[in-house]
Amino acid sequence: MDRGVRDGFTTTFGALLATLGSAVGLGNIWKFPSLTGSNGGAGFLVVYLAATLLVGLPVMIAETMLGRTARADAVTTFDRLAPRGQGWWKIIGWMGFAAALLIMAFYSEVAGWVYAYVFKAMMGEIATTDPKAAAVVFGKLVSDPVSSLIWQWVVLGITGVIIAFGVSKGIEAVARKLMPLLFVLLLVLCVRSLSLEGAGRGLAFLFDPDFAKITPAVMLTALGLAFFKLSLGMGTMLTYGSYFREDQNIPATAARVMFADLSVSLLAGIAIFPAVFAFGFEPAAGPSLVFMTIPAVFTSMPGGVIFMTLFFVLTAVASVGAILSLLAVPVAILSERFGLARKTASIATIAMIGLLGVPAALSQSLTAKTTLFGLNPFDLFDFVSSNVLLPLGGILIAVFVGWVYGLAEPEKRMAAEGPMLSRMAIKTAFFLVRWVAPLAIGIVLLNGLKVF
Ligand code: TRP
Repeated sequence: MDRGVRDGFTTTFGALLATLGSAVGLGNIWKFPSLTGSNGGAGFLVVYLAATLLVGLPVMIAETMLGRTARADAVTTFDRLAPRGQGWWKIIGWMGFAAALLIMAFYSEVAGWVYAYVFKAMMGEIATTDPKAAAVVFGKLVSDPVSSLIWQWVVLGITGVIIAFGVSKGIEAVARKLMPLLFVLLLVLCVRSLSLEGAGRGLAFLFDPDFAKITPAVMLTALGLAFFKLSLGMGTMLTYGSYFREDQNIPATAARVMFADLSVSLLAGIAIFPAVFAFGFEPAAGPSLVFMTIPAVFTSMPGGVIFMTLFFVLTAVASVGAILSLLAVPVAILSERFGLARKTASIATIAMIGLLGVPAALSQSLTAKTTLFGLNPFDLFDFVSSNVLLPLGGILIAVFVGWVYGLAEPEKRMAAEGPMLSRMAIKTAFFLVRWVAPLAIGIVLLNGLKVF
């Protein structure tokens, strides 16, 4: 497609903010704490941090670079960049297409819970520090098939409206202004949580690792989270990179997004775990953890109901940037490869997600017993996307950039004649892309899936 026809980020700062908006989302507030809690705490955190630094960051650089070089959707990129006769690299893009739908099928449901909690917070329904009472409210919401479906459709409907009216840029701009407020609220939560009696046990859970708890399955989950958090291995960063300016410093952008994203997750962890132990919640509660403990911390503060409501509103807002970036992959593929108008492509994508979302939404009710490998649809979609498709996409991208395509021009120049620091950074990143990422992902994936 002609370069002039494609939209693009007009400033490098705008591109940084959009990338950050994709990374920060329910993954920080919901997925990171639940997985850390159910996988033993600090040991999981250590593996997750290592995976983010040694695999996530280099793959993020590689993936973004590919998009900026090809200036195309996640499938067409490999048509353009793969050597003759190696058209099969396109599979990366199609896997990304599938992963986007699978992730959205459950992500939209979790966003639906967040929307529902805005109203529950407002009505004072969740203003309790009692684990049993909190579990009843959450349980009632997720085990009711009708409200589960309706809240998911509300999320998809609002997303559709944002796209159809072409206001995604405007909404993202609003979201950006509000995100610092979410950060401040998390800080306040941390202070309150840390001052609770018994907070020390929560801190120890989060920061004092017990390496015996790190099994191959735990390692795969941590690696999958690293990909999920930075929106990697699925073509999101590739698609966003395709809108980057030629002079965008990709390694610096990726590093900044990674640090900001990690800080939000860590704050969420520090807000939650001391309270888990102080109030007697179960750290391994899973997806319900955040929905029970965050309200409990607010309840123990003056003005709790107001701040709790604000917190869920801001979390809902934070999910918008992530959702739009998930949709960006199938939408770009449908519109650029099949010539659909962006609006049509978006509506078609949302419709597919709506269908796939039904079994995910009903996973605590009608489809709870419809399991594969012992997983209900919600957990299955999460497992297949985060723990299989994203790492697979990541390993293929790393091999493609490390061994088949190589660095893009700006990065080659930086590695050869840039300032000393960027020369070192690029060389380290390229080494990680060639050797560490493929080997680490390969070993963790095969072990975690019990292939050997
Ligand atoms: N990173 C987002 C979050 O943590 C979710 C997300 C957006 C994502 N785009 C993605 C996950 C692409 C995997 C792939 O909430």
